[in-house]
Amino acid sequence: MKLPRFSESLNNKVIVITGAGGVLCSTIAKGLALTGAKVMLLNRTYEKVLKIEKEICKDGGIAKAYACDVLNKDCLKAVHEQIKSEFGLCDILINGAGGNNSDAITDMEFYTEDQEGKSFFDLTEDGMNQVFGLNFMGTFLPCQEFVQDMIGNKDSSIINIASMSGYRSLTKVPAYSAAKAAIINFTEWLATHFSKVGIRANAIAPGFFIASQNERLLKNEDGSLTERGNKIIKNTPAQRFGESKELLGTIIFLASSEASGFINGVVIPIDGGFNAYSGV
Ligand SMILES: NC(=O)c1ccc[n+]([C@@H]2O[C@H](COP(=O)([O-])OP(=O)(O)OC[C@H]3O[C@@H](n4cnc5c(N)ncnc54)[C@H](O)[C@@H]3O)[C@@H](O)[C@H]2O)c1
Repeated sequence: MKLPRFSESLNNKVIVITGAGGVLCSTIAKGLALTGAKVMLLNRTYEKVLKIEKEICKDGGIAKAYACDVLNKDCLKAVHEQIKSEFGLCDILINGAGGNNSDAITDMEFYTEDQEGKSFFDLTEDGMNQVFGLNFMGTFLPCQEFVQDMIGNKDSSIINIASMSGYRSLTKVPAYSAAKAAIINFTEWLATHFSKVGIRANAIAPGFFIASQNERLLKNEDGSLTERGNKIIKNTPAQRFGESKELLGTIIFLASSEASGFINGVVIPIDGGFNAYSGV
């Protein structure tokens, strides 16, 4: 019997990562590049991924940055064509683009009649659509584009990024929570739908990691934790936020069909125990 060669099995694979300029996915991209994979870095803001491309290539890895809005089908198609002609078919798709919007966040956790600030009734249709759109359609549309390459390739898979808010609705962020719950459900749907053509679909559900999209909710301007930040730490048995490099082991495991070829439709929490802890 041979042991699975986790990271070696990703050598030369074409891995498309959306939101690759962000805090979590830039680390994921750099880690995957160390396996010998060719990492395609897609991000709405090009400068962010160009910087990551340069860092990876400087260390001897293979990476290419592309400006790409995951909500724009034409843009996805054009980038897909460029990737195919330069690097070949996509083996693994990591849907990392996501985020929040203050127009879809309430100021208070609980509604009271005398409350001040932005309430449930002040959330805007545009803000809610934008957050739901980015976090759900921003995964659906890249799947529609890149999964075509994977048909019949039994080493291929999709990795989505859910969240703790997908299991248990988090206060203040209804659109984000609903969209991440939809991602968990959609991951299971994809896993079933594409099972006959050899494509697996799994997800990770990170707990709390400081990133640009949530920094204002978790930290004050002076760097101290907000009330919400403190509450999260109290409810995370590990008693700290996660570090982006702590996602890598699970991502490599899920991406490697040698390591996880019979794993399909699962969502793995990476959360320092947040999901398991009842608070008592
Ligand atoms: N940070 C956390 O604690 C946490 C927890 C759970 C889940 N997540 C999820 O992890 C993923 C990565 O988030 P992050 O925390 O690194 O945030 P981030 O804000 O650092 O990264 C998100 C990236 O997505 C890009 N992006 C936004 N809209 C886009 C679009 N329309 N098209 C292409 N790119 C776009 C942004 O430019 C940014 O580079 C997201 O799906 C997020 O919801 C994060």
